[in-house]
Amino acid sequence: MAVRSGRFVNGRRRPALLLLLLLLAVFLLGSLLALHKLNHSPLIHQYDILQEYLESNPPKGSRTRSILLWSSFFGDSRWGLPADSLGPQELREELHCPVYQCEVTNSHDFLPNLDMYDAIVFHVAESFPFLRPVPSRRSPHQAYVFALMESAGETKHRLSDEGGFYNLTMTNRLDSDVVWPYGQLQDIETGAVVAPSAQVHWRQQPTKGEGNDTSASRLWRGKTKMAAWFVSHCKTLSRRENLTAALQEHIEVDVYGKCGPLSCTRGDSHCDEMLDTDYMFYLAFENSLCEDYVTEKLYGVLERHIIPVVFGGADYTRFLPPHSYIDANRFDSALELAEHMRFVANDMEEYTSYFWWREHYRMVNVSPFCDLCARLHSSAQRHRSQVYGDIESWWFNSCRLKTNIQF
Ligand SMILES: *[C@@H]1O[C@H](CO)[C@@H](O)[C@H](O)[C@H]1NC(C)=O
Ligand SMILES: *[C@@H]1O[C@H](CO)[C@@H](O)[C@H](O)[C@H]1NC(C)=O
Ligand SMILES: *[C@@H]1O[C@H](CO)[C@@H](O)[C@H](O)[C@H]1NC(C)=O
Repeated sequence: MAVRSGRFVNGRRRPALLLLLLLLAVFLLGSLLALHKLNHSPLIHQYDILQEYLESNPPKGSRTRSILLWSSFFGDSRWGLPADSLGPQELREELHCPVYQCEVTNSHDFLPNLDMYDAIVFHVAESFPFLRPVPSRRSPHQAYVFALMESAGETKHRLSDEGGFYNLTMTNRLDSDVVWPYGQLQDIETGAVVAPSAQVHWRQQPTKGEGNDTSASRLWRGKTKMAAWFVSHCKTLSRRENLTAALQEHIEVDVYGKCGPLSCTRGDSHCDEMLDTDYMFYLAFENSLCEDYVTEKLYGVLERHIIPVVFGGADYTRFLPPHSYIDANRFDSALELAEHMRFVANDMEEYTSYFWWREHYRMVNVSPFCDLCARLHSSAQRHRSQVYGDIESWWFNSCRLKTNIQF
């Protein structure tokens, strides 16, 4: 190093050194000029631009989102909500939404213009309203929501005509943008709502004999009847009526409601108590075999002292803790299912072990509008435009006719 720098200042190299200094001076002057120019350009003085932006786009994180319920929900213009219009306070205090900075209304005049709503919700199990089928104008910033809590068979829209119309889905399917299930399970200890979900990490069922619920065993002793089925739609896509008929060849199934000889109104306290005291099993058979389609047929008895026998298109591990139900589709024939039910019914320890989960989970009902509100606030939603081009195939492909169990 020392040798080299000595050579550098050596007289022979003086012209080269001068040239270098000159170049450096030119470079410095140029930089100063550029800096001066930049300093006075709008690129650096952005405050005005920022101010202008902020004035036309209020900070999105805090702005209340507005949701318009365009049509009614089976005649209920409130969709089961406590009032015609709810604001953030009601969402927080009455619906207990974690993200509550939203307004939900069924009044089309709530805001001065239809294109001001952040989301407009359409109930697809009913036709578009006759007088006001769809909004006449549409803003590219608002989301049209495909909302439906029924199976695909209950769709009352011609979806082949509605491609490219909806931006968000709100259904019982777990791959919807907003999941709208019939019921949810909450982990009592952590408070987390764990199911339904595509992947639930269920708590471990204690090993047999560990749990000793004396009231459960007392109830088991009192039960004298095998299975009850409450039904009002007799002929269905899932052919559950045929499965029941096949079961009846092996075990006794009491059929209540329109399609059977017995009557008892679900919801009557005596009728509900009968499920605790008299029956071993409750048939929670869905009318169609669609993905994630698990209805009040199941949730209505989940906290009663009776084992549900489920039949549907769902993967029930996404909905219920292990060893809390019997899934008909896990058996190859009605005979095998009937034999298994008989085995469980006859063994007190086996029967009562189906209720192990009750001390860990409880049923809750979180409004889907909480989720929709959160969704409208999420940054992913704000920065992405999405639309369902072929809503018909997304929705109809969720159902099937084939079953594993033969009957
Ligand atoms: C059940 O457990 C309790 C303690 O949790 C105990 O006192 C009781 O004796 C047990 N009953 C039976 C039948 O094992
Ligand atoms: C299913 O049951 C109905 C009567 O409820 C009967 O008409 C029909 O033939 C049955 N289908 C099959 C495949 O057994
Ligand atoms: C909703 O879909 C419409 C129609 O394709 C589109 O113009 C609009 O930008 C979408 N909006 C959002 C918020 O994704």
